[in-house]
Amino acid sequence: SVEMMDQQPEAEKEAAGKASYDELVLQEKPNIRWNQVVGLDPAKKAIKEAIVYPVERPDLFPLGWPRGILLFGPPGCGKTLMAAAVATEIDGAFVSVDAASIMSKWLGEAERNVAKLFNQARNTASKGRPAILFIDELDSLIGMHSNEVGGETRVRNQVLKEMDGVMDKGKKIHVYVIGATNKPWALDWPFIRRFQKRIMIPLPNHEARLHMLKLYTEHLNLSTKIDLDEFARLTAGFSGSDIRDICQSAQLRAIGELFESGKASDKRAKPRPLSMHDFKNILADRKPSVSPRIISSYNEWSEAFKAL
Ligand SMILES: Nc1ncnc2c1ncn2[C@@H]1O[C@H](COP(=O)(O)OP(=O)(O)OP(=O)(O)O)[C@@H](O)[C@H]1O
Ligand SMILES: [Mg+2]
Repeated sequence: SVEMMDQQPEAEKEAAGKASYDELVLQEKPNIRWNQVVGLDPAKKAIKEAIVYPVERPDLFPLGWPRGILLFGPPGCGKTLMAAAVATEIDGAFVSVDAASIMSKWLGEAERNVAKLFNQARNTASKGRPAILFIDELDSLIGMHSNEVGGETRVRNQVLKEMDGVMDKGKKIHVYVIGATNKPWALDWPFIRRFQKRIMIPLPNHEARLHMLKLYTEHLNLSTKIDLDEFARLTAGFSGSDIRDICQSAQLRAIGELFESGKASDKRAKPRPLSMHDFKNILADRKPSVSPRIISSYNEWSEAFKAL
C-alpha cells in the first residue's frame, strides 16, 4: 500500500531504481530571460497572451484564460528554455518534472506524487504567487514503457483529473501547466483538449540562426574573416542545440591545439582565432539532428492540432 511504500528506507528505494519526490521535482528558479530565447516570436506572443497578460491584469479576462499550454516540436529548439523564460517573466514559482521519470522512478507512488505536485503549485498560487508547473516529455504519460502493469493508466488519469482541478477551481488562481513534447502524435485527445494553447517550437530560421551564432561566438576569439551570415546559411536545418554544439566544438579545437603545443601552461596564453575553415570542417562531419521527414510530421500535426 501507499503507507508501506512510505516506510521503505531511502537506500532500498535507490537500490530498486526508485526516486523520492524531491529527487525528481526541480524547484529552482532557472533565471532565463526572454532575450536569451532566440527567435520564436509567434510562440512568445502566444505565451504572453496566455500567461503573462492574465497574470498582470486578471480583471480583463471575464471568460477566464487557458491554464494548459503545450509546447511541441523537434528536440533542441527551445521548449524547455521558453518555459523557464515565462517563469522568470511573471516572477512565478517554477516546478519542473520529467514525465518519463514519473513513470519509471515513482513506482507505486506516482499518483500520490503527481497529486503533491499539483498541490504544491496550487498552494503557491493561493498565496498570490503565480506558479508554472512544467511537465517535460509529456508523451511518456501515455507511452507503454512503464514497468508497473496498469499503473500508467492511473497516473495518466490522475494528471487529467488534476488539470481539470486547475481549470475549474477558483478562476483567479494562477497555476499554469506547461507540457512539452517532441512526440505530439503520441498524445491522445483527452490530453490534447486540456492544453488549450498548442504551440509549435520549430527549427530556427536563417535570422534566428544568425542571432544564435552571434550569441554563441560572442566570447570566442574569431578571425576577422568569419562570415556569420554564410555560416547561418550553411546551418540550415540545424537546431539551436546543434548550433551551440558546433560553436563549442570549434572552441574545443583551438583550445586543444593550445594544450598540445604546450603553451597552455602559460596562464596568459590564448587560443588562436577561429577561422571559417574550422567551422566548415566541423560541419562536414555533422548532420542536422532532425531529419526533413520528421519536420514534415511536426508540420502535419501542427496543421491538425495547433491552437495559438
Ligand atoms: N531558441 C533558442 N534560443 C537560444 N538557445 C537555444 C534555442 N533553442 C535551443 N537553444 C540551445 O539549445 C539548448 C537546448 O534547448 P532546449 O532544452 O530548450 O530544447 P528543447 O526544445 O526543450 O529540446 P528537447 O525536446 O530535447 O527537450 C538550450 O539550452 C540552448 O542552449
Ligand atoms: Mg526540453
